[in-house]
Amino acid sequence: MQDIIKAIEEASIKIKELIETGDTGKSEQENSTGDTQLKLDIASDVIIEDIFKTIPSIKAIVSEEQEEIVSLNEDGEYLIAYDPLDGSSLVDVNLSVGSIYGIYKGGFDAKSIIASVYVVFGPRVEMVVAIDDVKMYRLKKGKFEFIQNIVLEEKGKLNAPGSTQNCWAPYHKELIDDIFNDGYRLRYSGGMVPDLHQILLKGGGLFSYPGTTDRPKGKLRQLFEVFPFAYTYEKANGQAVDGFKRALEVETTHIHDTTPCFFGSNTEINRVLEVYKKNG
Ligand code: AHG
Ligand code: MN
Ligand code: MN
Ligand code: MN
Repeated sequence: MQDIIKAIEEASIKIKELIETGDTGKSEQENSTGDTQLKLDIASDVIIEDIFKTIPSIKAIVSEEQEEIVSLNEDGEYLIAYDPLDGSSLVDVNLSVGSIYGIYKGGFDAKSIIASVYVVFGPRVEMVVAIDDVKMYRLKKGKFEFIQNIVLEEKGKLNAPGSTQNCWAPYHKELIDDIFNDGYRLRYSGGMVPDLHQILLKGGGLFSYPGTTDRPKGKLRQLFEVFPFAYTYEKANGQAVDGFKRALEVETTHIHDTTPCFFGSNTEINRVLEVYKKNG
């Protein structure tokens, strides 16, 4: 596993350079979930794949930006699903973005995830590794230095409601309104990595990306986005659910499947479960 973390560190240093100097324009292609790929999405995907190809313990990889699973080493132990550049459309306005990695063993599905890593590219580059607990590292002079462990409070103060409001179910709108009425503050940038990182570091709250009238299964992708963060939130003493059950119990039928998702501290997630049980 240490070799994989080292590979992610190496890739992140290259992706930092790419973000700082690369072209933020669109490519001519779409990925499997229908996003128009930016040149930065494709270039960061290539950086990661090229480095992972050199690691013998990796059996196969799958990326948001590629249609199919790529087999690497027959005898490898680990499977990695990754989102090379999350929030890539925010680079041109100079907001924070990230990379997300889910490390799986045995299969690309929720029950097989055994570790998760995400990297935030903001004013600083930070890497958060969840294995048994959740540890944050910061890039300083070319090296990732341990900074702190991350543990969520029981109840938070932030609310990050994703997707388009006029496509929300009435009970979802009521839930979000009630949370604001209870004094939670709006913190939503449109990049799930910095948005979820902020909730983790500032004690807690709720990030939601529900199923909507236009997208009943939500937008966020199970293998590269939802399961890795679900793993991190659970290890940080928080929870991640699809409205009804743990996100880490959601079934995957296709590598690019999406799911509604809610991440947060215990108080807010219990609230979501109560509302969805009554109405959903
Ligand atoms: P990506 O850039 O990897 O395609 O992912 C973007 C995602 C995620 O970062 C964010 O939370 C969400 O899209 C924002 O969507 P909305 O603008 O619909 O809220
Ligand atoms: Mn995308
Ligand atoms: Mn993403
Ligand atoms: Mn992406």
